Amino acid sequence: MKVPWHTSISIDWSDWMYSDKLIEEFRNPKNMGKMENPDGVGKVGNPTCGDVMYLYIKVNDDRIVDIKFETFGCAAAIGTSSIITEMAKGLTLDEASKITKQDVADEVDGLPPIKMHCSVLAADALKLAIEDYRKKKGKKSDMKS
Ligand code: FES
Repeated sequence: MKVPWHTSISIDWSDWMYSDKLIEEFRNPKNMGKMENPDGVGKVGNPTCGDVMYLYIKVNDDRIVDIKFETFGCAAAIGTSSIITEMAKGLTLDEASKITKQDVADEVDGLPPIKMHCSVLAADALKLAIEDYRKKKGKKSDMKS
């Protein structure tokens, strides 16, 4: 069907716009870069867009004492990567592993619906980094016994 040129179409731009907080995290990301000798690493790829995130953690006494990320992706992926490092730093591993993609999206005052999948990278990478740490620690304690 042909739509006449004068037909008005109502677009809700809030479905497409990033929050000020997300833009700030994207422009000034915290804890970005590679970590030397991390205790755990999580690597996640987003099959729909090809973006990739690495998340590195240092753990002391079951607590995340340092955390860094490298994200090769969109503004939402970088912004949510940055915010999750701030959310997780200082938490115990159990507390950090409970952070969901919705928590991450809420922390940046929401994401446009079409960008919600980007917050999955950060939440999944953190869980994988914790798993990786626990696996390595398990192996180390197996070797001691
Ligand atoms: S478009 Fe790929 S993670 Fe956002």
